[in-house]
Amino acid sequence: MRVLVLNGPNLDRLGAREPALYGHATLASVTASLDALAAELGVTLEHFQSAHEGALIERVHRACDEGLAGAVVNAASYTHTSIGLRDAFLATGLPFVEVHLSNVHAREAFRHHSLLADIARGTVVGFGGDSYLLGLRGLVANIGG
Ligand code: DQA
Repeated sequence: MRVLVLNGPNLDRLGAREPALYGHATLASVTASLDALAAELGVTLEHFQSAHEGALIERVHRACDEGLAGAVVNAASYTHTSIGLRDAFLATGLPFVEVHLSNVHAREAFRHHSLLADIARGTVVGFGGDSYLLGLRGLVANIGG
């Protein structure tokens, strides 16, 4: 079973980016922890990060076309703005879990609303890099890996 890990804008800056909010782990170290968990769970991960909305949308389409089983998604700021990304998940039916490093509900009001949450299998927020690991466990259990 293959699972997409989709990361949106500015997540390539993890480690250096607002460490008080996002911690010191880099995207590479989050990716390595995810790969280790995936091996334990018997799934293969495909990682994709982009600052471009269209690239993220096209990656969701490709995941569907290539038969990936689901996705762990941190759409970053596009969580709160992208109808296009929401529509990509609706159009493909790709099951996904939404994750965030920070507790978006404890931050600015504009981060409280997600355009993905109501169509996600579940959401995990506020646990730093562990949000991704919990999200992957939840997704795999939910889609029956
Ligand atoms: C984030 C939360 C978003 O509101 C923000 O735009 C991000 C990161 C998180 O992981 O906490 O870029 O998705």
